[in-house]
Amino acid sequence: MHTTKEHHTRETRGDGGALSAFSLALWKYRGEKGVLIPLLQAAQEEYSYIPAAAMEKIATVTSIPISEIYGVVTFYKQFRLTPPGKHIIRVCDGTACHVNDSMTVLDSLKNVLSVEAEETTKDGLFTLVTVACLGCCSLAPVMMIDESTYGRLTPTAIEKVIKGYREAEASPAQ
Ligand code: FES
Repeated sequence: MHTTKEHHTRETRGDGGALSAFSLALWKYRGEKGVLIPLLQAAQEEYSYIPAAAMEKIATVTSIPISEIYGVVTFYKQFRLTPPGKHIIRVCDGTACHVNDSMTVLDSLKNVLSVEAEETTKDGLFTLVTVACLGCCSLAPVMMIDESTYGRLTPTAIEKVIKGYREAEASPAQ
C-alpha cells in the first residue's frame, strides 16, 4: 500500500555544499526494490541517528509508507531514533565473548553508567549498545569505545576505563 505524497520534505541542513551520501542515495533512487535499509543506513551514517525528517524524505522519494519505515527502524537494533551520546560503547556478545562472560561486562557497564543496553547516559556522554563479533575474539570479552578496543575485561577494568573518559571530559586537553 502506498500513501499519497502527504509528507513534506524538510531540509535539515542548509550547508549548500556537495550532496551528502544520504541525499545522493535519495537522488539516485530509481524505484529499485530493497533500498529501504541502505537508505536508512545512509541517513544514520550522516546524522548518527534517524531523524523524523530523514524518514519523511525517504517516504516522499520512495512512496514507502512512513509507518512501514518507522517499523523497520524500530525492528533493527542497528538504527537509532535519538541522537547517540558523545562516545558509543559497543559490548561484544559474539560467541567467544559470550562464553567469556560478556554478560558480566554488560552488567558492569549498566551499573557504572546507570543505563540499560541501547540507552544513552543522562549527561549525553555514552551510549551503550551490544553487538556481535568485533573481530578480536582472542581478547574476549571485548568492548569498543568509539574506535578504541578494550579486551580481557573485568568489572574493575571497566570502572577504570569509564573513569578515565569521565575525567578526560571534566578536564579536556586544550
Ligand atoms: S566474539 Fe567478541 S570479538 Fe569476536
